Amino acid sequence: MRGIYFDNNATTRPLPEVLDVMTACLTDGFGNASAVYRRGREARERIEAARASVARLLGASPSEIIFTSGGTESDNTALFGLCGPGDHLVTTAIEHDAILSCLRPLAERPVSVTLVRPAPSGRIDPEDVRRALTPQTRLISVMTANNETGVLQPIEDIGRIAAETGVWFHTDAVQAAGKIAIDVGRMGCHLLSLSAHKIHGPQGIGALYIKRGSPVRPLVLGGHQERGRRAGTENLAGIVGFGRAADAARDGLSDGAVARIAEWRLRVERELCAHIDGLVINGGDVPRVCNTLNLTIDGVPADALMAALDRRGISISAGSACRSGSKAPSHVLRAMGLSPRQARCSVRISLGKLNSGEEIDYFLSIFAETVRCLRKDPRSTTI
Ligand SMILES: Cc1ncc(COP(=O)(O)O)c(C=O)c1O
Repeated sequence: MRGIYFDNNATTRPLPEVLDVMTACLTDGFGNASAVYRRGREARERIEAARASVARLLGASPSEIIFTSGGTESDNTALFGLCGPGDHLVTTAIEHDAILSCLRPLAERPVSVTLVRPAPSGRIDPEDVRRALTPQTRLISVMTANNETGVLQPIEDIGRIAAETGVWFHTDAVQAAGKIAIDVGRMGCHLLSLSAHKIHGPQGIGALYIKRGSPVRPLVLGGHQERGRRAGTENLAGIVGFGRAADAARDGLSDGAVARIAEWRLRVERELCAHIDGLVINGGDVPRVCNTLNLTIDGVPADALMAALDRRGISISAGSACRSGSKAPSHVLRAMGLSPRQARCSVRISLGKLNSGEEIDYFLSIFAETVRCLRKDPRSTTI
């Protein structure tokens, strides 16, 4: 059997149609979109068609989308592009490192920061965001869906608070795109980050929605690409692949793909809860994206469980892929009140539309037994 990939929050397999359009751009369709001859104009047309696809996924206008190198650059651009000396930023303790790693350099500007903590459920209380605001608050940045737990945040309520108080509002929607319908107007955000490789597009390309009139300074300086908002020759193949992935992500919301993933996750949750004692679903009581399941399994270290499943050809993770080299327990689970030990006994299973019912069957047929063996001997390598 081909390996079973249940780590779709880390990255996703590019769709065949994404590979096809990218290959065409990297072969006969190459060109610099700034050139005025036919090859350049055709590259420009492809980029603008992809921009329209990404805009449609968000309910935005194409002129409000800039392409970046990924979710990280989009997040960095939002924060550094809006916050300057003397400003105050409100964000949360459960953001991705693409946000949290900006806080120290921002402090040097100096930008003061308030980190709002989640409830034990993983949800941010919008009233805590309101209470954190000061007359100096320039920007609120709260993620739409958490990458480790899948917990959805009350973005529309926070958007209303931003509108009432006249504060700019950014949301990192990298883990929400393609899993829930996104409408920037309804969410009330001025900035929104996306990444292609989380929606079956290529790695190394992302987008930032910038609502018309938002005063965002560019992070990458150079030529006049992206109307002066992000310099550098456009990643033509990446952008075109992203456009195709965005179309497919939009289709998936209505063609049954998302509903199928939700059913698979429900089945996994029910069966694991029925057959494994001492199991807790983190964020299990609040709205989550359809594909993500974060489990604490008492007495079973995540690294031992991941290794045992890997030997059976199944890939799952212990949380954020970018922290996988770190020994520190998950900052998200710790912020939700789990002890370091509980956080180290937590794994993330993230499903995707390229999984199959047979893969779910196989996973369920071995998971409970694997857990039982590890509880007897966590160092066992024979499972
Ligand atoms: C919530 C969130 N934000 C940002 C990123 C970074 O995106 P990229 O890998 O495209 O830089 C990730 C990637 O895991 C993520 O999950």
